[in-house]
Amino acid sequence: MLANRVEEAMNKQLAMELRSAYAYLSMSAYAESLSLPGMGRWLRSQSKEEVDHAMKFFDFINDREATVNLETLEQPPKDFASPLAVFEEALGHEKAVSEAIADLYTVVVEEKDYASQAWLDWFVTEQVEEEKSVGRIVESLRRIGDRGDALFFLDKELAERGA
Ligand code: FEO
Repeated sequence: MLANRVEEAMNKQLAMELRSAYAYLSMSAYAESLSLPGMGRWLRSQSKEEVDHAMKFFDFINDREATVNLETLEQPPKDFASPLAVFEEALGHEKAVSEAIADLYTVVVEEKDYASQAWLDWFVTEQVEEEKSVGRIVESLRRIGDRGDALFFLDKELAERGA
């Protein structure tokens, strides 16, 4: 069983991961609309990864004999000013997710739920990677500025991530 407070916080995080998936999918559509297939593919892969994160919460809540409570998902942003704006928004989002995971961690520690604490360690580490990978793309896009040839090569590099 999970304490009510932990169950509620786990469900909240499940919804946040699904919102992340939805947001990355919308970003992927935007990249495709700019004929940046590599960026579109990268963002689509990220969306799938977020669904995997959500399902980890789904399974864990069930495994602990608690109740999954799926929230309404709002429409994600769909208009972006530029590829850089997309990744700046993604980085801000990942930082918000890291803070949410930290808040959730605090709840399970306060509730002395050590099984949840050990399980959440994976997410704490994962968020370091998530911020790093998105942050690197932000830096690349800042350096590229409005040089179309450099953007072309970055797009080719991003295409290497499996969809
Ligand atoms: Fe599942 Fe990118 O946070």
